[in-house]
Amino acid sequence: MAEFYRIKVSDIYKETKDTVVVSFEIPEELKEVFKFKQGQHLTLRKEINGQDVRRNYSLCSSPLENEWKVAIKTIRGGLFSNYAFNELKAGDELEVMPPHGEFFVKCEPESSKNYIAFAAGSGITPMLSIIKTHLHKEPKSTFKLFYLNRTVKSIIFKEEIEQLKNEFFGRFQVFYFLTKEQRDIPFLNGRFDHEKLEILTKTFIDIPDTAHAFICGPQDMIFLIRDELQAAGLPKENIHYELFFSGSSEEENKHIAEVLEEKVDGTEVTIIDGGKEFHFIMDDDFDNILDGALAAGADLPFACKGGVCSTCKCQVKEGSVKMKINYALEEKEVAQNYVLSCQAVPTTDKVVVDFDV
Ligand code: FES
Repeated sequence: MAEFYRIKVSDIYKETKDTVVVSFEIPEELKEVFKFKQGQHLTLRKEINGQDVRRNYSLCSSPLENEWKVAIKTIRGGLFSNYAFNELKAGDELEVMPPHGEFFVKCEPESSKNYIAFAAGSGITPMLSIIKTHLHKEPKSTFKLFYLNRTVKSIIFKEEIEQLKNEFFGRFQVFYFLTKEQRDIPFLNGRFDHEKLEILTKTFIDIPDTAHAFICGPQDMIFLIRDELQAAGLPKENIHYELFFSGSSEEENKHIAEVLEEKVDGTEVTIIDGGKEFHFIMDDDFDNILDGALAAGADLPFACKGGVCSTCKCQVKEGSVKMKINYALEEKEVAQNYVLSCQAVPTTDKVVVDFDV
């Protein structure tokens, strides 16, 4: 079941000229349901112009703060972000799904680990939650943040980051990179590229001594940094990333076409959700289980429908499916038959998927 709760907005303020920060007032009786881990996100839902609009926003607060805060950056033509920016006010209610997501690693208070984070623009949101939590909970650990923005004024959470720098002096370092303003140190001008990352991994980052890397931003940036860190010796399983959105590359389009070739028409699908079974026959108009099920009347959780957020995750219990794209599940989850239902193309006559997992 897509579980949404009506939650009151307790505060909303402009953080930069195109970003608002929204705080939610979670009632006492829902605090357990809304308990979260650093780096997780909320799915917000609102009917706008007759459309059921859902968006995922990462929590920027730490679980230690007893606050539920997200930052929403307006994007051109963005239905939800423009609504939040122009109309949403304190006291309004939104439908909110409890926190979810896998963009975190366990905090170990006794450990002394070195973490690194790369963020671009609003990609800072989950990072802030992750950084605050690890620095507070692991008094011997360190964090280095490499943060890309257009200009100084567009840096989201600049003030809070600077405060953290003071509070965790010697354990938290920040390097701001700007694309639209020139500064005295040429290295800090412009986007991350191969040369910059080579310098970073040879000088600023001690790769063998780095426990985990977190990356959040646009796809190209994430994949570039991921590959460079891996090439520099950081194990793949220690590199964690979260995409803003996905844009299919030529290679991905080829993969999608191959997967669709294998689609079986008229699959009998059984959905297990909330302990109940829901049966339907896949309509040829749909290529993925989520859309097929929603059209047949099921009420299932989803947000991005782009293979990015994992809100629609389920486990295949019988039959088989192939995913068109997957930016959200880790290899070990895929090995355990977890799939993103919004990307799951049925490839057998019968498929049973379980959302209660
Ligand atoms: S709805 Fe986001 S991955 Fe399926």
